[in-house]
Amino acid sequence: MSKYNKIAILFHWTIAILIVANILLATLAEDLPRAGRAVYMNPHKVIGISILILTVGRILWRLGHRPPTLPGQLAGLQATAGRTVHVLFYIIIVLMPLTGWLMIGANGKAAPVDFFGLFTADLAVGKNAALAEVAHNGHEFLATPLIILIGLHVLGALKHQFIDRMPFLQRMWP
Ligand code: HEM
Ligand code: HEM
Repeated sequence: MSKYNKIAILFHWTIAILIVANILLATLAEDLPRAGRAVYMNPHKVIGISILILTVGRILWRLGHRPPTLPGQLAGLQATAGRTVHVLFYIIIVLMPLTGWLMIGANGKAAPVDFFGLFTADLAVGKNAALAEVAHNGHEFLATPLIILIGLHVLGALKHQFIDRMPFLQRMWP
């Protein structure tokens, strides 16, 4: 079976690990009193903006590189379902960090995101309570579809691998 090339695989797994880490960090922070959340939320913001930068790079790269052809068994509905999940992933993993960044950029109180003291990433949109509210709601709303997509995606991959008995995970494995 043909597979994704090394750059696609590197993008896929780097971004996947960072997304899972970010969901965990946000979940851990939620249980803490507001004052203690920075320990988890500072890395959450740095990782989130890194995901945005990597994803923009990944999409630009992907536009110039076709994925490997799917095995014949996966024509029709299954292929369409897989492709739909992939497109929704790309949309959500751009919107998720953008809404997060916008939410803190527009609230007027949050400090710019500090990348280990090397530089700061400030989305200078100015204080705008309505925009901060929309972005905050968007960020919270998107968490659920993102988690559902991860579930569908992993179940789909495991189904092809173990029920359809084809070397499917190998397509995205170095
Ligand atoms: C947050 C986690 C993840 C995200 C956001 C994600 C996203 C994606 C995207 C967007 C693609 C399509 C690549 C393209 O054609 O441009 C893809 C492909 C793939 N992913 Fe993931 N993925 C995640 C986790 C996983 C995990 C945990 C597994 C393994 C169980 C996995 C297995 C695969 C496989 C096998 C493909 C190739 C599918 C095909 O050949 O059509 N992914 N993933
Ligand atoms: C792909 C990247 C990201 C993912 C997957 C993600 C995921 C999440 C999740 C699951 C939550 C909890 C939502 C809830 O309360 O139900 C959250 C909260 C939060 N995220 Fe993100 N996030 C990302 C990027 C960012 C970025 C880039 C920033 C800011 C620069 C950010 C700032 C925040 C803040 C401030 C909260 C807490 C909101 C509150 O207090 O209610 N996130 N994030």
